[in-house]
Amino acid sequence: MEKKNIDWANIGFGYIQTDYRYVSQYKDGAWDEGALITDPTITLSECACVLQYAQTCFEGLKAYTTEDGHIVAFRPDLNAERMMNSAAGLEMPPFPKERFIDAVQKVVEANAAYVPPYGSGASLYLRPYMFGFNSVIGVKPATEYQFRIFATPVGPYFKGGAKPITIRVSDFDRAAPRGTGHIKAGLNYAMSLHAIVDAHNQGFDENVYLDPGTRTKIEETGGANLIFITKDNKVVTPKSSSILPSITRRSILQAARDYLGLETEEREILLEEVKDFAECGLCGTAAVISPVGKIVDHGNEICFPSGMEKMGPVTQKLYDTLTGIQMGRIKAPEGWIKVIQ
Ligand code: PLP
Ligand code: COI
Repeated sequence: MEKKNIDWANIGFGYIQTDYRYVSQYKDGAWDEGALITDPTITLSECACVLQYAQTCFEGLKAYTTEDGHIVAFRPDLNAERMMNSAAGLEMPPFPKERFIDAVQKVVEANAAYVPPYGSGASLYLRPYMFGFNSVIGVKPATEYQFRIFATPVGPYFKGGAKPITIRVSDFDRAAPRGTGHIKAGLNYAMSLHAIVDAHNQGFDENVYLDPGTRTKIEETGGANLIFITKDNKVVTPKSSSILPSITRRSILQAARDYLGLETEEREILLEEVKDFAECGLCGTAAVISPVGKIVDHGNEICFPSGMEKMGPVTQKLYDTLTGIQMGRIKAPEGWIKVIQ
């Protein structure tokens, strides 16, 4: 199959329309059989629940070309499970796990010409999402829904690729203490839009949010979890009920222990102890592992010893292990890789 004529090595994290998307409609208490379609647009009521009350959640996962020429997806079962949790949190009907995985398979297969070649540094990003479809004017959940997946080839989330970024401690919160921070609700991202525009205007790459209850602990950024490396090479990551349970973070912790023999710890991390870490990184499907060189807290610069030029040494090992597993250079733990073709 011939690949599309795209400058794979130089694409950023943007939307490039592909040929096929998957859609399934929920009506009268059941999902229909679903289908691949070519129309990239959606027509819906002006009063659709998603438009009026933001009843929508989404997922993000990637498909890769491996070293030996297969196309694979990374842990789609965990995205399926997380989306079922997100749906439950928003009073939406869960889209069944096996059907989610089958839809991923269909969308990637149908758009195989858009899966970036091995070694290009790019991948095919999949965006499953679902939303309240029918008209709702009193505040209540919809009764009809659409589940969809589209695909788009992407490069690095942050412009500099693997260059360390600078993030700032945000004065805004992205989630409430007993709110929706732990699910992938669209509303969490709406909450972060003003903060991210403001951060960019002030010259920062991203916001790091504090726990909304006490504002003393580190949570996560707008689109990724955080990892820290201690001076004695332990991988530490924040534990909180208001952050998204990142699949990348869970994979990194397991790989750190099982492949690199590193100690890992999930615990509350105070803002005031961040200055004592040796390395810091963002982790997520889009972010992969993006090194953080500096955290700015209201003019106070916390500079990690790993510096602003390259990833710290432990972060680099984690990055090489994670991407090695994803691209088929390193044998994956059982069940992590779904071979599409
Ligand atoms: N945290 C937030 C707020 C995110 O949007 C994402 C992206 O999905 C993550 C963390 C990372 O999660 P994952 O590794 O499952 O992509
Ligand atoms: C992802 O990593 O899949 C996300 O959803 C994060 C977003 C910033 C693109």
